[in-house]
Amino acid sequence: MNDLAGKHFVLGLSGGIACYKAAELCRALIKEGATVQVVMTEAAEQFITPVTMQALSGRNVYTSQWDSREPNNMPHINLSREADAILVAPCSADFMARLLHGRADELLSLMCLARPVDQVPLLLAPAMNREMWAHPATQRNMAQLTADGAAILGVGSGFQACGETGDGRMLEPPELLEDIVAFFQPKLLAGKQVLVTAGPTFEAIDPVRGITNLSSGKMGFAIARAAREAGASVTLVAGPVSLPTPRGVTRIDVKSAQQMLEATVPEAERADVFVATAAVADWRPSNSSDHKIKKDGSGNAPQLAFTENPDILATVAKSARAASGRLFCVGFAAESHDLVANAQAKRARKGVPLLVGNIGPATFGADDNALLLVDAQGTQDVPRASKLALARNLIAEIARRMRPAA
Ligand code: CTP
Repeated sequence: MNDLAGKHFVLGLSGGIACYKAAELCRALIKEGATVQVVMTEAAEQFITPVTMQALSGRNVYTSQWDSREPNNMPHINLSREADAILVAPCSADFMARLLHGRADELLSLMCLARPVDQVPLLLAPAMNREMWAHPATQRNMAQLTADGAAILGVGSGFQACGETGDGRMLEPPELLEDIVAFFQPKLLAGKQVLVTAGPTFEAIDPVRGITNLSSGKMGFAIARAAREAGASVTLVAGPVSLPTPRGVTRIDVKSAQQMLEATVPEAERADVFVATAAVADWRPSNSSDHKIKKDGSGNAPQLAFTENPDILATVAKSARAASGRLFCVGFAAESHDLVANAQAKRARKGVPLLVGNIGPATFGADDNALLLVDAQGTQDVPRASKLALARNLIAEIARRMRPAA
């Protein structure tokens, strides 16, 4: 999926060691379908050459406001007018201060000042030493730049080139890319709290064994990402999966169905949307052994007794918050056959306004899927697509159904 297809960025580099990451960011933007025009300050040229950025972007790099290649000699006007966004990465402490004061004595800050504010967003990826980042002047500048309409993409934390450890590193290119893609998604759930369960559960038999299933968690993680892209605050209650947490999402890791219930119920008390994608084990061993169960040599397998697990979705769907319409619940149904009939019956049984059906064996672990939406009005097929595309589609369907109640 090319999430930035058709988008044109001016990628501005100011002076900082994080310039080496800008090379990879430039490639990542292009791989995602964007075109990139690089503009560098004189300080940035101390860290990386225009030759590198030219080769990666496939365009001449601009470094001076006196660039005579432009027929009207106004690169600050021409370059900013054709951009969908100006992205300054790295944005140094000095460059922030320059932006704040509306300085215009070199091309990059001149271009930021000359951009049409309502049409060309300004995205800043700060990069600096932790003391510079924490300094009241930087924090003050950042607050003012936000008030002036810039979007600050945040910083990473960890080991810094100067040898110190703390906040202020530029985000890694994949993190920046995720935030930039999110920036352009419609804010359909702005201000809403979204709660998602995802992945399998693990029901222990003894300390080394248990019962689980083949759910990969990919759909739930994609829904959490899509909800955050849509402007929601997102909590993701995840069973045992090794997927990376989507940017900006709060993750609670659990193992068993009981733990998933205990993590989910209090979160549902303040959520506006609950999407249950988890493949919760229906049963757990009644008595999980504290010690590894040994073969006794008799040839007889141990007899396991099972207890039914709580139904997390049905429990939340019965809560006062859901019943009063303040919490919109969405269930998933992983079926092996008769999808329409089974999904319709499951929607009624779980008591949810929207149920999403899919064929379990065809989706577990896959990167794409096809869905069936079932609500009180009937059914609707959502054709095969990547799980992230389906997740964005589902978020739009949820937002549309919530709107009348809001
Ligand atoms: N679910 C849940 N807690 C459970 C079982 C299921 O929250 N203990 C949720 C799932 O996250 C999903 C929906 O209920 O959103 C349906 O899950 P599924 O496993 O397909 O259905 P079951 O309730 O297990 O029904 P059946 O065994 O009849 O298919």
